[in-house]
Amino acid sequence: MTENSPEPSPENPTGYRMYGEFAHLWTQISAPADYAEEAAELREVLFDLLQGGPGPYRPTVLELGVGGGNNLSHMTGFIDAVAADISPRMIEISQQLNPGVEHVVGDMRSMRLGRKFDAVLIHDAISYILTVDDLRRTFETARAHLEPGGVFIAGPDWMRGVTPMPNLSCKLGSPGELSYAEYVHDPEPDDTEVEVIFTFFIPEMNNGVPGVRPGVRPGVRVEEDRHRHGLFPLETWLLTLRDAGFEPGNRRYSNDVSSGSGYHITGIAL
Ligand SMILES: C[S@@+](CC[C@H](N)C(=O)[O-])C[C@H]1O[C@@H](n2cnc3c(N)ncnc32)[C@H](O)[C@@H]1O
Repeated sequence: MTENSPEPSPENPTGYRMYGEFAHLWTQISAPADYAEEAAELREVLFDLLQGGPGPYRPTVLELGVGGGNNLSHMTGFIDAVAADISPRMIEISQQLNPGVEHVVGDMRSMRLGRKFDAVLIHDAISYILTVDDLRRTFETARAHLEPGGVFIAGPDWMRGVTPMPNLSCKLGSPGELSYAEYVHDPEPDDTEVEVIFTFFIPEMNNGVPGVRPGVRPGVRVEEDRHRHGLFPLETWLLTLRDAGFEPGNRRYSNDVSSGSGYHITGIAL
């Protein structure tokens, strides 16, 4: 954990400000529309691997690391989902967006629901897995929730040898809303992680500030939040999946890796 991140706590087990004290800003950081394109690809991969098209058949899907539920919101029309996240605050946000979905708090490295699903999905939250050991534990969690033939899909943000580092992306908010910059760099190329530095620009409304007219924004608060994400080559993803009991595969869904890996990692439970 970097000096700028608070310690993990029961309210915020990741310790990252984005999933704790700034969780109420999530819908300004990330909106369902930001996930539409990738969710469409995920849907195609899911039904291809399940060998059935969207229709009367509604597969059961466990999403681990659901976050604010943006990705899930594009899928609830054609799957029966259970959603999990390590952060209780993020679970609350996803519940508001996906009210019909069962939500549970759980760590993707260790949780066991004692139930099986047709598929397990871990979207960009898989990026919070930092070591090969934890990657294997996470895949074992997925395997424990699948029968043989069940489908696993992950959507890593970055891939070693694919995503250029350093990487910078920005989101400009509407007037009065949060904007941010996301800078990703690889300080130690021999390990399996990168540092992701978010700088948030948060417009502050006048809440009784002396001398400032009501409705006028007195300023913009600038806050930093440093995260750690995993960075593994494609080979590591595939070999680790095999170790955890899957027939591994992958789908290249985009050639634009300027701010992403462009890959979905897939597995069929053996
Ligand atoms: C970028 S957000 C996911 C956003 C999500 N794809 C969406 O559509 O809204 C990453 C999430 O991963 C969760 N997370 C991080 N480590 C986790 C772990 N070990 N187990 C479960 N969730 C975890 C965080 O709490 C956070 O909510």
